[in-house]
Amino acid sequence: MFKGKDVIDVDCFNREEMLHIFQTAKNFKEILTRPIKKVPALRGKRICNLFFEPSTRTRISFEIAEKTLSADVTNFSASTSSLKKGESFKDTILTLSAMGIDMYVIRHSEPGAPLMLKRYTNAMVINAGDGIHAHPTQAILDGYTIWEKKKNFESIKIAIIGDISHSRVARSDIKMFRLLGAKVVICAPYTLLPMAIDNYDVIVSRKPEEAIENADVIMGLRMQLERQTSGLFPSLREYNEIFGITQARMKLAKPDAILMHPGPINRGVELDSNIADAAYSVIPEQVTNGVATRMALLYLLFGGVQVENID
Ligand code: CP
Repeated sequence: MFKGKDVIDVDCFNREEMLHIFQTAKNFKEILTRPIKKVPALRGKRICNLFFEPSTRTRISFEIAEKTLSADVTNFSASTSSLKKGESFKDTILTLSAMGIDMYVIRHSEPGAPLMLKRYTNAMVINAGDGIHAHPTQAILDGYTIWEKKKNFESIKIAIIGDISHSRVARSDIKMFRLLGAKVVICAPYTLLPMAIDNYDVIVSRKPEEAIENADVIMGLRMQLERQTSGLFPSLREYNEIFGITQARMKLAKPDAILMHPGPINRGVELDSNIADAAYSVIPEQVTNGVATRMALLYLLFGGVQVENID
């Protein structure tokens, strides 16, 4: 069901497979609380982390997940590689593959880079974020976090507020949440909504108050200034006033609502600083779940089947 698959976006899994990943992650999460956080599940497997774009959460959580499972990990850094001497992407991958890599984890600023990588290797490929296209492992950890907190997706409302048009997280999360049956409301200025918004199977709201009202989950998204052309909104201050997630706006949500954000967060822009640290914020738990869900995914892709009582 999972063995040998490439993970380019969340739609490579059906609902049943996604719930199986969540259940596997739940079992793996316990390992992260042990005094010795290591099991031999991926001993002898070589995984190369290819990061062509900055990352803290995704890069380090993949590395921790791989090392916890005892894989042999190689971290490729574009800035210190022979790419700087003019070697092509293709020759870089052919060179790495000649050293017996079993799996690549790739982050790249260009949409489609993971599929380009797949043209040059028989190793498995996991997309760790490609431009504005997709971020499947973020969607898996976000889906897992909601599954853990809310159990049932069918009866919940998820509000996603922020720079949707430049967000690979929003694209993958929307697919994930709809696959699992949640109602999804997105909210942003028109200039920060994707062009083909009608294809997204979501409700579009122009007012954060309307999006947050009676929501079970509120997700803020970062203002991705590095991907934007100028003139999409007047100023960060005005954006925060009109679309920012504030304590007052959070009061409109259900009493047991949770606040999520994929990170990195811009405090005082897409959300007020104090609410990022509030009791209803699960942002740190998302990071922990990122390790457990990536462990589960790696384990299943390498053919693992049973994780209960793993030593
Ligand atoms: N959420 C996320 O992808 O964060 P990083 O860019 O730090 O990996």
